[in-house]
Amino acid sequence: MIPDSDLHRHPPALHRASEVNPYTRWIHEHPAVLLAAPTPPALREKMEASPAASGPLVLDLGCGSGNFLLQMASLLPRRRFVGFELRYKRLVKAARKIEKAKLKNVWLLREAAERFALYCAPASLAEVHVNFPDPWPKRRDWTKRLVSVPFLQELERTLQHGGLVHLRTDHSGYFLHVLSLLKQVDRLRPRICCNDDLRRRIPGSNVRSEFEQMFSCQQKPIFYLVLENSRPTR
Ligand SMILES: C[S@@+](CC[C@H](N)C(=O)[O-])C[C@H]1O[C@@H](n2cnc3c(N)ncnc32)[C@H](O)[C@@H]1O
Repeated sequence: MIPDSDLHRHPPALHRASEVNPYTRWIHEHPAVLLAAPTPPALREKMEASPAASGPLVLDLGCGSGNFLLQMASLLPRRRFVGFELRYKRLVKAARKIEKAKLKNVWLLREAAERFALYCAPASLAEVHVNFPDPWPKRRDWTKRLVSVPFLQELERTLQHGGLVHLRTDHSGYFLHVLSLLKQVDRLRPRICCNDDLRRRIPGSNVRSEFEQMFSCQQKPIFYLVLENSRPTR
């Protein structure tokens, strides 16, 4: 134990995360849109309480501070959007924007993107967006990448027939990594596979996330891949 005389050299430790990072407290201030400790029944309950939005379900995995979700949910008010994100600050910023815009068709989960399938019935998803996932460039870290064979298999199970996955990245290695994994899955097939120049000509694909805006300003190439959940071929 620290003697009283020495306490001035040992200021009270900021033990609790909520004292270090106020966002861990503020995350609880937006219960209508942000589930801080989500469960599948809790999400279902939130969505059922918003009957205006009963259309196709769309996920944004690693949604950051929500710019992409916000634009998409405004453009497509009949669709339901769910964002998965782990960082408190980004979630709180996203929740504030959603509340300010009075959107009733978008929810945020503080949840690992890898666990998305727990929240989705088989063949229930219309679209999944994976915008600028952490690239983990070192070979020894590749196992930490979000897109893996089990992840793609979960997408095959939860996407509707004809459902789409949109992957955007500035990292050519990640793009090639995902293409190489497709050999190991049955149903996801590339439909659009292009760089930014080609993408500009694809109607409706110009909603940009905050990382995309940042990379575009830096003149970085953006790689864009669309996968369609097709019938099994074997
Ligand atoms: C490079 S940022 C991209 C953010 C946003 N999608 C965009 O394009 O602006 C990657 C985001 O994924 C989040 N993230 C990383 N690993 C995650 C995981 N396992 N589950 C959920 N989110 C994750 C990070 O916190 C970060 O906000």
